[in-house]
Amino acid sequence: MDRRRFLAAGGLTAASPLFAHAATAAFPGARTTAIGGQARPEATPTMFTQVNFIADGLNLRPAEYAALLAETVAGGDVEADNYSLGGAIEQLEQTFARLLGKEAAMFVPTGTLANHLAVRTLAGNDRRVLVQAESHLYADSGDGATTLSGLNLIPLLPGAVTLTVDDVRPWVERSVGGRVPGKIGAISVESPVRRLGHRMADFSELQRLSTYARGQGIRMHLDGARLFNLPQHSGHTVHDYTQLFDTVYVSLWKHFNAASGAILAGDAALINGLYHTRRMFGGSLPHAWPQVAVAQRFAATYQQDYAKAWQAAEAIIAQLRADGRFAIRKLEDGTSLFYMTVAGADHQKLAARARARGVTLAPPPSGQSEFTMQVNTSLLRMPPAKVAGVLIDALAG
Ligand SMILES: Cc1ncc(COP(=O)(O)O)c(C=O)c1O
Repeated sequence: MDRRRFLAAGGLTAASPLFAHAATAAFPGARTTAIGGQARPEATPTMFTQVNFIADGLNLRPAEYAALLAETVAGGDVEADNYSLGGAIEQLEQTFARLLGKEAAMFVPTGTLANHLAVRTLAGNDRRVLVQAESHLYADSGDGATTLSGLNLIPLLPGAVTLTVDDVRPWVERSVGGRVPGKIGAISVESPVRRLGHRMADFSELQRLSTYARGQGIRMHLDGARLFNLPQHSGHTVHDYTQLFDTVYVSLWKHFNAASGAILAGDAALINGLYHTRRMFGGSLPHAWPQVAVAQRFAATYQQDYAKAWQAAEAIIAQLRADGRFAIRKLEDGTSLFYMTVAGADHQKLAARARARGVTLAPPPSGQSEFTMQVNTSLLRMPPAKVAGVLIDALAG
């Protein structure tokens, strides 16, 4: 296999086996190699071919990740970092600072720590932080920010996505007017909200909230783990979002297929030097490059690739609806998810048969009837008609 040629191929959707359908379209009538970039008849068919509806990204298996990493470093231009400083890590930080429209960015080994470091830094000595009750920071991080950084996280709006000025104002006023005044130091917003079907916050409410917070001297953090999906659904750019916030976190392992990792971006004054705090929390990996070196290649084209993935999803949905046995539901403020009901199907069998034919679905939890279907760039690996055909055939047996 010619790895250098793959690296040299540039734009992923143009010639990448990671998106095998796109590659096959470029070389009609031929299969592509698992890695290697050029068409070769009947080459290894099992790697980089699975379409999944269960993950934010390509859901790479260990052998695929290892092959991709080997290919990424084979060109010789990936340099090792030293305790997460310099080399490939610095390059990635620069790439994401640019993509996010921020002065500086720092690698953090998990999003959990990125959110924690952000609110800790923004709040400073004003230790009350307003958060959505359904956010990862509040609902999925234990009381980490409270235990480890002495922050008082105040959870607002259980069950709701969008935090508005009307929701935060009473808490801002109550805090400064208390018997012991205690200013709100930061507001953290997650969008899309994972716990609420990846629904997105209303953009104009975010604008109003940002203006209000700035007027009050309260700093704002965005948990944008899946930020790069928002423009496709809201029509607002990544920069439209990031300029409303002092710090922004984006995941490296969801859309950009790293093994783990996150980027925290903001003004240079906030981010530069923060690596000491990262280290204090045990977050400065001695060698971070194996975790994230592959992310660089997905970053530049992600938004176009995700848009194409949705085009594919719409074609699949149309074909399934035409079949008559599949019902599809979408959320009005949804992003990457849609929901599928299949009349009279044995969910487990349907999923098992589809998987054997190259399409991974998560059967509904017991007692529920809908498949939660996640749209991601793996949909570019197979023509939409074939994906729909797999699901239709899997019904039959
Ligand atoms: C919205 C959101 N924020 C933060 C995180 C935490 O990221 P990590 O798993 O990298 O710690 C997740 C993780 O899945 C998430 O969905």
